[in-house]
Amino acid sequence: MGKIILTGDRPTGRLHIGHYVGSLKGRVELQNAMDYEKMFVFIADAQALTDNFDNPEKVRQNIIEVALDYLSVGLDPNKITIFVQSMIPELTELAFYYMNLVTVARLQRNPTVKSEIAMRGFGSEGEQAVFGSGLPVGFFTYPISQAADITAFKATTVPAGEDQKPMIEQTVEIVRKFNSIYGETLVEPEILLPSNNACHRLPGIDGKAKMSKSLGNCIYLSEPADTLAKKVMSMYTDPLHISINDPGHLEGNTVFTYLDAFCRQEHFGKYLPDYPNLDELKAHYQRGGLGDVKIKKFLGKILEEELQPIRERRHEFEKDIPEIYNMLRKGSDEARQVAAQTMDDVRRAMKINYFEDKELIAEQAKRFSGQ
Ligand code: TRP
Repeated sequence: MGKIILTGDRPTGRLHIGHYVGSLKGRVELQNAMDYEKMFVFIADAQALTDNFDNPEKVRQNIIEVALDYLSVGLDPNKITIFVQSMIPELTELAFYYMNLVTVARLQRNPTVKSEIAMRGFGSEGEQAVFGSGLPVGFFTYPISQAADITAFKATTVPAGEDQKPMIEQTVEIVRKFNSIYGETLVEPEILLPSNNACHRLPGIDGKAKMSKSLGNCIYLSEPADTLAKKVMSMYTDPLHISINDPGHLEGNTVFTYLDAFCRQEHFGKYLPDYPNLDELKAHYQRGGLGDVKIKKFLGKILEEELQPIRERRHEFEKDIPEIYNMLRKGSDEARQVAAQTMDDVRRAMKINYFEDKELIAEQAKRFSGQ
């Protein structure tokens, strides 16, 4: 049996270049390598609602944005299945049975849930206190719902960032517990982390650790050329590098972090022929004598080269929005068939498939006929 690859994104905003280097690019490579039996990419709207339950309009608006971002980076519905989570009711059904297999204490220990609660809870800084009036059960239990997302498709491979590790671990525990109680039914998944180190997390253009919509420090995949150029010129660099001749620092220097993620050898010949490679550019910056503007212009050209075809493809897809919804509907229908198959397996294993259970019916008939 080949690999079954599955991953998803919460539709809470347009996708940005952090998503691109961290996951989307790798997904397109996986898709095109064709080394799998099935690949699923889905829009996790039900999960997004667990902390946006008071703003369904936001989720509703962003489903199409994420779908357009998927298509414009080259995810191809002819090769893979792209679907919308809430259109697969089996996912909620599975999650309900998995809830019996997880303790409250175990959920409380999930590091991702812990930090996310801290971020959204009462008195939290940065993001608004979404959970000011208490922690919703839906959010608290979303790792269980995520285990359902993964196991419903018998996924073997989940491409995701480091932050999703605790989710996969929790899924594996649920799978083991389920299989040990009800018999071998579910498949244990493995996380597939991004390979390039620089890609693990791209900082915001302001140098803050994470790109986030609420911080206004993102470069979106669909960024128009003029705002892309402006954003690059405004990027955080090295506050100690005041005049050109000052020695520059690379640590925490966003422009160099982005270069690590996006710059390829060929870019020097094309856009910055004075330097043979990135190491020489860095060395000159550290010695002093190299201005930020020159490097920013270089980065701007590299990003424009990368984003321009994505932007153009997006404009093409935007011309037929109803067709995108059709694609999502088709993908969701396909996905639903697979999830329904797993649901049947689960029902059989748990012996809650009463109407298909000939043995049960015969046994009960016998019992009541007094034999
Ligand atoms: N939790 C993921 C995120 O926030 C989204 C997600 C939901 C997901 N279900 C998943 C990712 C299953 C991988 C597999 O980005």
